[in-house]
Amino acid sequence: MRLDKFLSNQGIASRSQVKEYIRKGRVIVNEQLVKTSDQQIDESKDRIYFDGELILYQKNIYIMLNKPQGVVSATMDNVHKTAFDLLKIANKKDLFIVGRLDLDTEGLLLITNDGELSHNLLSPKRHVSKTYQVIVEQPITKEQIQKLEAGLDIGEEKLTLPARVQPISENEFYLSIVEGKFHQVKRMLQAVDNQVVFLKRVAIAGLKLDETLEVGEYRELTKDEYFQLTERE
Ligand code: URA
Repeated sequence: MRLDKFLSNQGIASRSQVKEYIRKGRVIVNEQLVKTSDQQIDESKDRIYFDGELILYQKNIYIMLNKPQGVVSATMDNVHKTAFDLLKIANKKDLFIVGRLDLDTEGLLLITNDGELSHNLLSPKRHVSKTYQVIVEQPITKEQIQKLEAGLDIGEEKLTLPARVQPISENEFYLSIVEGKFHQVKRMLQAVDNQVVFLKRVAIAGLKLDETLEVGEYRELTKDEYFQLTERE
């Protein structure tokens, strides 16, 4: 791989900026200063330093974003700001969103270039759990909780799969579901004659939203968090 491609793929900067950095002598390959961007490197063997810092080769990238309300879970949109607009990283070309949230839903949005992980998380057969913090218009009743947990008719071919409710207060609870139908949580609450007034995704499988991330902020997953994505809740 070319040196400039490697550095921009690792998120250092855009390809043209990286070329400039290389020209200015900010890049070292195996203890040697290199000033030519087209130098070929072996990303699995060579040691590449930018400003003295070793750049670890990372084929896949995993980002958790605390999506704000009013932001579309998309790469491009003509009307609204998108989740991708919030990412201040150079190379977004291969990234995609794993499991969209509605415009008015906030919380954990996973963005990656790892197609296999994405497929595994989204596959309906795998029953990956997603947990939402839900605030509803009317106090949630025991019967409503029972129905949500048992499975409901929301106008699909089959009833929803059993869900889990963990009450927080009269009008607020965590709801864990193992499917991802369009507007599923809102439709489940409508089916028990209640209505969602606030919705936030707080977990996907074993991965929890980092509560220190303000809405609109993001960061890469740690190694442990990556493994939590493959844990069953
Ligand atoms: N269920 C919904 O209704 N909306 C979301 O954004 C996610 C789950």
